Amino acid sequence: MIKKKILITGATGFIGSHLTLLLKKKNYEVIVIDNLSIGKKQLFKGDKFYKVDITKKKQLEKVFKENKVFAIFHLAGLSKLTESFKKKIYIKDDLKKRLLKIAPDLNNNQLDEIIELVAETKIDGVIASNTSTTRNNLKASDRLLKEIGNGGLSGQPIKELSTRVIKYLAQNSNKAFPIIGVGGIHSAQDALDKIEAGADLVQIYTGFIYEGPGLIKQINKALLN
Ligand SMILES: Cc1cc2nc3c(=O)[nH]c(=O)nc-3n(C[C@H](O)[C@H](O)[C@H](O)COP(=O)(O)O)c2cc1C
Repeated sequence: MIKKKILITGATGFIGSHLTLLLKKKNYEVIVIDNLSIGKKQLFKGDKFYKVDITKKKQLEKVFKENKVFAIFHLAGLSKLTESFKKKIYIKDDLKKRLLKIAPDLNNNQLDEIIELVAETKIDGVIASNTSTTRNNLKASDRLLKEIGNGGLSGQPIKELSTRVIKYLAQNSNKAFPIIGVGGIHSAQDALDKIEAGADLVQIYTGFIYEGPGLIKQINKALLN
C-alpha cells in the first residue's frame, strides 16, 4: 500500500517530533523540513528530512517536486513564510479544508441534520463543539449568572455535552467525516475520552488557559502510550 505523505515544517522540536510519531502510527509517511540540520540530540522521528530555509522558494520547490504531498502541518514561524509557500499551504485547492463547527446544545434530530448536511455539501469535517448557551454544572448562584448575562460557556462544565455530540456524530455517520473534539479538555484523560467517543483530533482552548501549556505535553504522552 502506498503511504500518503505528510509534510511537517519545523518538526525537529518537541511538538513536531510527537506529531511525527502519531502520524507514523497512523501509517503516513512523514517528510520533515527544517532550517536546522538534524543533530544527534534532536528529536527527529520522520521518514525523510530536508534541510530547507522556508524563505527560499527554490529549496521548497525541490521538496514539492520530489514528493506528492497529501497534507502539510506548518509548525515553523508564520512570519518567515514566503508568499509562494503561503499559497501552497492555504490556497492549493486540494489542501484547503472546510470544517463546520457546531454547538454542544444540539439535539439528536439536529445532529442528524448536520450529518445529512455534511454528506450533501463539500464540508470536510465537523468541529464539536463550540461553547454552550446552557448554564448547567455551575457552582455560581442563579443571581450571579443573571448578573453576568448571556454568552458562551466553555471549559469543564461543557465537557460531557461536547463528548455526547462527538459520540452521536461518530456512531450515526458511520465515521463518514473527521471529527475534531473540543470542549472541556483539561487533562490527558479528557482528551482520551474525546478520542474514545470518536474524535480524530482534539483541540484545547479553556484548558490551555487554566492548566497551562504543559497540558499539551501530557496529552501527547498519553496518546503515545
Ligand atoms: C473567549 C473565547 C473566545 C472564543 N472565540 C472563538 C472564535 O473566535 N471562533 C471559534 O470558532 N470558536 C471560538 N471559541 C470557542 C472555542 O474554540 C472552543 O470551541 C470552546 O470554547 C470549547 O472548548 P473549551 O472548553 O476547550 O474552551 C471561543 C471560546 C472562548 C472561551
